[in-house]
Amino acid sequence: MKPSITLRQYDTIKLKIEKIVYQGWGMGRLSNFVIFVPNTLPGDYVSAKIIKKRKSWAQAVCLEIIEQSEFREKAICDKYGLCGGCQILDVSYENQIKLKHKILDDCFTTFLPEEKGKTKPFIQSPQSIYYRNKMEFSFGTSDIDKNKITIGQKKRGDFSTIIPLNKCYLMSDISSKILGWTQSFFTETDLTSWCPTTHKGILRHLIIKRTKNDEQYLINLSVNDDPTPLYSRYAKQLQETFKEVTSVYLSSNKEISDTAFSKSITHLSGNPFLEESLGPLTVRLSPLSFFQTNALLFEALYTAVSNQVPLSKNDTVMDLYCGTGTIGLFLASKVKKVIGIEENPAAIEDAKINASQNNISNIEFMCGRVKNILKFNTFSPDVIVVDPPRSGMVPKALKRIGEIECPYIIYVSCNPVTMARDINDLKAHNYVLQSLQPVDMFPNTFHMETISLLKRMN
Ligand SMILES: C[S@@+](CC[C@H](N)C(=O)[O-])C[C@H]1O[C@@H](n2cnc3c(N)ncnc32)[C@H](O)[C@@H]1O
Repeated sequence: MKPSITLRQYDTIKLKIEKIVYQGWGMGRLSNFVIFVPNTLPGDYVSAKIIKKRKSWAQAVCLEIIEQSEFREKAICDKYGLCGGCQILDVSYENQIKLKHKILDDCFTTFLPEEKGKTKPFIQSPQSIYYRNKMEFSFGTSDIDKNKITIGQKKRGDFSTIIPLNKCYLMSDISSKILGWTQSFFTETDLTSWCPTTHKGILRHLIIKRTKNDEQYLINLSVNDDPTPLYSRYAKQLQETFKEVTSVYLSSNKEISDTAFSKSITHLSGNPFLEESLGPLTVRLSPLSFFQTNALLFEALYTAVSNQVPLSKNDTVMDLYCGTGTIGLFLASKVKKVIGIEENPAAIEDAKINASQNNISNIEFMCGRVKNILKFNTFSPDVIVVDPPRSGMVPKALKRIGEIECPYIIYVSCNPVTMARDINDLKAHNYVLQSLQPVDMFPNTFHMETISLLKRMN
């Protein structure tokens, strides 16, 4: 049906927001146009300006919330709305779960309408604040005093502006104190903050990792510079000030892309890694390896993965996209053998050490891309666990996983859109979705983790 109204770029419109979709954007309808408006909630009646228009949908910026959604409450953080860290901090935790449930149902209804009703209740975070064990902060410059260094999060929708933070409710009080101390330390030097538009300046990111008991912190300072005695002094004084800081690294990042990740990393002081407990195991958290970011829930996530299918001592499990091997290590005592595959050599090194330090000998790790390792080797597992990055699996990896003809696939994902897309593709290999278990690993944001169980039909 043709849209019955004419809509142009820069038109100002008024509309009621019906729901939020996966990116966290509000969605409403104007005649036959679907309109996406970031920073709005279901029930908001807004005035908005169209910034992008396509045949049947448009994107708009919210100019004013004329009538507020019933979901909106007062947020505890005074930077909320400006800071890009949280998108739904002003929604009660109970309602956040309801909104996310609807997002997940909508993703599956789009790709797999026949699978409705398979979603289980969310496994919720024991706390909706102070839950993260890793955060990346950016350096910036104060608007009031250009000589003053600030540290904070990117502004919502504007990656070149930093919102200074004295406190962040997502991580911990100690991490907020480390931010403040680091800001004062570098304000006393002649170093400047790196600017993502001019690519000039030195100080780029401060990445903080911690253990769930809050006793060990790993700090990774990212700079557009080489290691110098100044950074060693920073590390020394930081450790003298905070007994919890057990490890300090310097990342030399001279790339123009605005990423906190750098391969050129120098260990400045302390232990080279953090030690985290995971059930009966002790595992390493290193600066460059992935680790699940909700300190209060990663164990519940792995327990839910291990409860998806009954495992026996005769079973072989493949843990694809295994990172530091945590899922496989967690399952190893229940099965005959685990094979982990991961492309990051640093993560594989950690995975092997994790196995040997926990006396787990029935696990083997292979370093490389999933699609390549599956191409050049033959496997016949009883269960495959996949936990790919947000972008999901590439078609060749999907095809090769399908060709193994394993009875069960447990798909763990932080992106329900790519997960639903991939599950739809696995239908061609006779896999049928059995259940969806959402886990709220990321309170105050629209993100979620989901575990899907797929069974192969003969
Ligand atoms: C979401 S993390 C999962 C890590 C792990 N399962 C865990 O729970 O800690 C995804 C992992 O996939 C790895 N990865 C990304 N693309 C890959 C590929 N094509 N082949 C193998 N590993 C890949 C990343 O390095 C990362 O460690």
